[in-house]
Amino acid sequence: MTASLVRRYQAADREAVRRICHLTGYMGESAAWFWRDAESFADMWTGYYTDYEPESCFVAEAQGRVAGYLVGCLDTAKAADPAAVCLSHVGRRGLVFRPGTAGFLWRSAWDTVRDRRGYAGRFLDARWPAHLHMNLLPEARGGGLGRALMDAFIEHVAAAGVPGIHLETLAENTWAIAFFRAMGFTAFGEPKLVPGMRTRAGARMHGQLMVRGGAGSPAGGQEAGSSTAK
Ligand SMILES: CC(C)(COP(=O)(O)OP(=O)(O)OC[C@H]1O[C@@H](n2cnc3c(N)ncnc32)[C@H](O)[C@@H]1OP(=O)(O)O)[C@@H](O)C(=O)NCCC(=O)NCCS
Repeated sequence: MTASLVRRYQAADREAVRRICHLTGYMGESAAWFWRDAESFADMWTGYYTDYEPESCFVAEAQGRVAGYLVGCLDTAKAADPAAVCLSHVGRRGLVFRPGTAGFLWRSAWDTVRDRRGYAGRFLDARWPAHLHMNLLPEARGGGLGRALMDAFIEHVAAAGVPGIHLETLAENTWAIAFFRAMGFTAFGEPKLVPGMRTRAGARMHGQLMVRGGAGSPAGGQEAGSSTAK
């Protein structure tokens, strides 16, 4: 029998979490084809959580090795904004000129102009202050580890008295959307274009906010179309 378990994150897990983040960062596949710089990618999507709020992070182990993670925070307003983390790497490490990130960043700037929509900032709503990111290696999927990670985080959030959780996934990631629905999340607002993001075939991609819990919202939020978040 394959031994697998979910436990709290420890500092020794940091490198594994960062590696898995980049290896699975495009809807479960490697992000390297559109963002080669693993260091900045991991910083954007896991750095704040592992380094400043490790108590809100969990890992999944399979056969004694870290095979996935859920990194989260209780209060989004206190967490680092991935856009700001990205900008700091752009400034310090010249990512706009490096092959492997330059394409994405220039495309993103062009999309922002073309869409006539500036950066709206993070989703800050007192009903769903907590948020999370999670990824499992391919061989660890489909066996209940995702549910176990989510259960651990939901329990952590509830114990802290935080009313609700939100997350953002790509609308095109139908597997993740199905999983999050099974975990009690519902779509909140319409999918929104994500500047710079493309499918491998070159099509624009969309972000989808999802929420769970939240005061006055026992069903876990409202379905798409009913939000003011754009
Ligand atoms: C999404 C992910 C975290 C789910 O974890 P998992 O371990 O594969 O999911 P589980 O086996 O715990 O499934 C839990 C439930 O979700 C549902 N579910 C999972 N995958 C599903 C799918 N592809 N379609 C429909 N429902 C699905 C099932 O109802 C399942 O319920 P069950 O426990 O009654 O069988 C994992 O597959 C993953 O890392 N995928 C790639 C990366 C990714 O997309 N991350 C999210 C980015 S925001």
